Amino acid sequence: MKSLFHKSIVLFLVVVTTTSCFNKDKPNYQYFPDMYVPVSYEAYGEYDIFANGQEAKLPVEGTIPRGWYPYGYEYSNEGYEKAKAQLTNPIPYSEENLAAGQQLYTIYCAVCHGDQGNGKGILVEREKILGVPSYADAGRAITEGSVYHVMYYGLNSMGSYASQTSIEERWQIDHYVMKLKGELLEEPEREFESDTTANLKRNLIPPVSADPTILGDDVNTELDQEGTN
Ligand code: HEC
Repeated sequence: MKSLFHKSIVLFLVVVTTTSCFNKDKPNYQYFPDMYVPVSYEAYGEYDIFANGQEAKLPVEGTIPRGWYPYGYEYSNEGYEKAKAQLTNPIPYSEENLAAGQQLYTIYCAVCHGDQGNGKGILVEREKILGVPSYADAGRAITEGSVYHVMYYGLNSMGSYASQTSIEERWQIDHYVMKLKGELLEEPEREFESDTTANLKRNLIPPVSADPTILGDDVNTELDQEGTN
């Protein structure tokens, strides 16, 4: 009995010493450990060799994502009024752009604004949201610029669509919204633009210079030059 007791103590000690240093997070025996342990720095790792010990670097100040351009109108009432008065749709009023605009409109806007743009979307009919205006609302007198501005920043209970849509997609939706407005007001239909006008007008860079308080003048000139090259 006594020897069994001793044996179990010895067994206990053996088990403790062999398992206590075992790390479950790492592979055990490794044959060519380079295959398991990366030689390069981990993207978000901490390493003394970098400033602040941070491998992932912050982008240089003023960096903008590829395919994105700064929008030159401020998020304020003045910015809204300026965009409403000055900003026009840079892409051609073509059949393709309108078809794309209609599709995007149906995905993003129709639930509230309705397929006809009369402010009677399904969410309004089910009383999930109130105060959705008709695009024909005389008091609002929406323009290409105001529609873009509202899509970019949102307006009160309407959210921003800047993260879901590209610049071009917003202008496509814009054309479609203006078409719906015209239909509601029973205005004559706007004629489609041809490809030649299209190429001349194709300049998706919004007028950054519209509000020099947003970006320094030097940035504007740089962008302008790039746009004309
Ligand atoms: C969740 C419901 C909802 C969705 C979805 C929605 N809107 Fe709106 N929209 C509103 C409401 C509410 C207002 C009125 C906001 C206010 O004036 O307080 C509004 C106002 C507007 C106006 C008038 C702004 C002005 O100048 O007075 C336009 C134009 C507009 N929306 C376009 C769009 C477009 C384009 C989309 C899709 C990209 C869209 N909306 C998606 C709820 C919505």
